[in-house]
Amino acid sequence: MKTNLIRKAYLDFFRSKNHAIIPSASLLPENDPTTLFTGSGMQPMVPYLLGEKHPLGKRIADSQKSFRAQDIEDVGDNRHTTFFEMLGNWSLGDYFKKEQISWIFEFLTQVLKLDPRRLYVSVYQGNSKINIDPDQEAVKIWQQQFKKVNIQAQTVKNASKKGMGKGRIFFYDENENWWSRAGVPDNMPIGEPGGPDSEIFWDFKASRQIHEDSIYKDQPCHPACDCGRFLEIGNNVFMQYLKTKNGFKPLENKNIDFGGGLERLAAAIQDDPDMFNIDLFKPLKKELEKLSQKQYQLNQKTTRAFRIIMDHIRAAVFLISDGAGPSNKDQGYFTRRLIRRGIRSAHQLNIQDNFTQNLARSIIKIYEKPYPGLKNNQNLILDALKKEETGFKKTLNQGLKKFEQLRKKQKHIDGQQAFDLYQSYGFPIEMTQELAQEHGIKVDLQAFKQAQKNHQKISRQGAQKKFKGGLADQQKSTIQLHTAAHLLLAALKKILGHHVKQKGANITAERLRFDFSHPAKLTEQEIKETQQYVNEIIEKNLPVKMREISIEQAREQNITGEFNDRYQNLVKIYTIGSYSQEICGGPHVKNTNELGKFQIIKQQSAGAGVRRIKAILE
Ligand code: SER
Repeated sequence: MKTNLIRKAYLDFFRSKNHAIIPSASLLPENDPTTLFTGSGMQPMVPYLLGEKHPLGKRIADSQKSFRAQDIEDVGDNRHTTFFEMLGNWSLGDYFKKEQISWIFEFLTQVLKLDPRRLYVSVYQGNSKINIDPDQEAVKIWQQQFKKVNIQAQTVKNASKKGMGKGRIFFYDENENWWSRAGVPDNMPIGEPGGPDSEIFWDFKASRQIHEDSIYKDQPCHPACDCGRFLEIGNNVFMQYLKTKNGFKPLENKNIDFGGGLERLAAAIQDDPDMFNIDLFKPLKKELEKLSQKQYQLNQKTTRAFRIIMDHIRAAVFLISDGAGPSNKDQGYFTRRLIRRGIRSAHQLNIQDNFTQNLARSIIKIYEKPYPGLKNNQNLILDALKKEETGFKKTLNQGLKKFEQLRKKQKHIDGQQAFDLYQSYGFPIEMTQELAQEHGIKVDLQAFKQAQKNHQKISRQGAQKKFKGGLADQQKSTIQLHTAAHLLLAALKKILGHHVKQKGANITAERLRFDFSHPAKLTEQEIKETQQYVNEIIEKNLPVKMREISIEQAREQNITGEFNDRYQNLVKIYTIGSYSQEICGGPHVKNTNELGKFQIIKQQSAGAGVRRIKAILE
């Protein structure tokens, strides 16, 4: 079954169980300061799991785009990807364990037709310290399901020591069978929801050899062993607790949060432990085989490079589309790292031509139906990739040569050298570390961070001057236009999308000039709506508020603005109602009612992918 069909089958199945189907949320969380990326289907659902009413009811299902930055370095083996889709269904205080387990078993065995003899499950073993019992209820329900297909499902404890024996249902502790955004119960902050879970594993039986060939060969194999013989294909979370000052308290509602990796399901159906052999990756492989004149399977090194390129460029395409174009800060830094690591892998395959745009076109085509947004943002995506690729390729060779010289001369890369590789050749520090690891040498990370800090200190003078240049003077009308510029950015994000980023501003007493990233000329309608939106905010007579917080807090809260050139510990945040929040040096008016009427007088191009708007206040 093709991956696009699996997604459809899942959503159809839960639609037939009266679930409302919702579209995927963005990879960049909108109102979740706890994390930079959406890394699971559950994240956008947190308010509803905590008891807020969902407008579409108590049963929801979706396929959520997810990105896990922490897995970047693991990509290259047969199962890690940074980007993936998570199929999810939620009960918001409606059905619970019994329905969930029986439905998911029905879906897996009857709709996807996975052989139940190859399915294994895990449940929470309980913990008296937090007053939660072993999940015998889930065990019972699983046993009933397996019984229907003539399987006597026996339980096993301590499988990591004793091996799996004839077990089908495995008890594990909170490291395996507890889910919250923050991980195990001890790590959860007060106010965080979580609960025990029950995972489902596929056994690539034909590949038992996998365990013998793995680093785990001296330990017993069992479903949660990381050797690759078993693959977790789904997780039923019984989201029923809230962490409080006094331990765990039942949530207002008992919720279900099911998450299943779409690509993993496809790998299970295909019964091939190499996730990169599923249909989605075929066109990408073909393209790379053509460019490199090498077969995917040629040797370990080639296979690994193929996987890194396919995963990283796919992730970058989705990230750019959701607004995280490559840059040196925040989420954009990850996009940059992915693209550059992909380019280095292509270099290892001896690919000379630019390749990212072709791959991106294939990716956009593969996802045309489920994610039409990619097609709409095609120009933005292709432009960003092209710019990053041509830019980085100019310095990659020289940088690699420099690295070679260093490593031949000495047994480590010192902080300043790592910083030079970053500053002059565009090597993200993680890439230098990876190169070093490949040659068995070390990078002094602490010293790198210090060199980076020193550099920021030196450039701070420049940054201050730059800001003065942005605001011509401090006349009243200049200040008014400065506040209007913040509203304009908010309006552009609202009307055009979250990819819009400020690229520059110049404000005089007469007019504001504002540059921002956007791939196309604005239509008359977009101009009109932007203008209207700004004026609507102005008319709300909103106070412009300022507060000072630490850079770390600003970063954690994901507030718009430039962090790089800042050196002070405190930054000023200007907020205008719920519309605009930016790091900014000021000054600003006290209330939007001081602004008058906002009017856009001109739009033009200001370079590739950058538009310029000139506006006045009447
Ligand atoms: N939140 C759970 C997970 O990510 C299930 O959706 O595994």
